[in-house]
Amino acid sequence: MIRIENLSKIYNNEKIFENFSLIIERGERIVLFAKSGSGKTTLLRMIAGLEACAAGRILLDDVLLTEEKKIIVPPEQRGIGMVFQDLALWPHLRVGENITLALKVKGMRAKERQLALEMMLQKVGLEGFADKKVYELSGGEQQRVALARTLIVKPKIILMDEPLSSLDRELALMLRAEILQLQQEYGFTLLYVTHNKEEAEFLATRIIELKGREK
Ligand SMILES: Nc1ncnc2c1ncn2[C@@H]1O[C@H](COP(=O)(O)OP(=O)(O)OP(=O)(O)O)[C@@H](O)[C@H]1O
Ligand SMILES: [Mg+2]
Repeated sequence: MIRIENLSKIYNNEKIFENFSLIIERGERIVLFAKSGSGKTTLLRMIAGLEACAAGRILLDDVLLTEEKKIIVPPEQRGIGMVFQDLALWPHLRVGENITLALKVKGMRAKERQLALEMMLQKVGLEGFADKKVYELSGGEQQRVALARTLIVKPKIILMDEPLSSLDRELALMLRAEILQLQQEYGFTLLYVTHNKEEAEFLATRIIELKGREK
């Protein structure tokens, strides 16, 4: 369970949001639905441990992750995966290397990494793509690489920041169904950001509106 308590964030003396509280139970699919600039990305970055907060705290299964101005548990120890708004794939690495880098860092052997990679590529519909360069892929394929890279370490929680917003409608419809299927198969808790009401309703077990400062 993630417990967000009275969280506030300030950038350059301006409050982005204030006193935001939310409890996310295991296995829930929460969709955060809010206007541009209301702090959705900022909130996800705080949950991932990439950003501190001005006030409040974040706990995971009663372990304190973040509190007022302090990141207590660093991102790599949280077991929280994130699919970034801009994907943040490594352009100089091949698809397979992008997906398995985290396993390599963890010390998994090459043979096991290869097996995990093959399974993952199949799961996200990218069989045969392991040796391609990221820049050779379409937007939808890159999105699948980003998903695979997050899923392969089997996080308990996955944060997705508008993962389908840059794709055309047809592809977005297909991928959102795949995300739902993967969530049901792996059972991770999902916190998903979108501007698209229909996408929110399709994916969510609960929709939360973040009322931040509007632009
Ligand atoms: N590193 C930063 N330094 C200063 N201000 C920032 C920083 N990151 C974000 N902000 C500001 O905080 C506000 C919230 O930004 P954030 O990216 O969280 O919004 P968002 O809800 O994700 O928007 P979008 O829907 O456009 O992605 C914005 O006004 C933004 O300009
Ligand atoms: Mg954002």
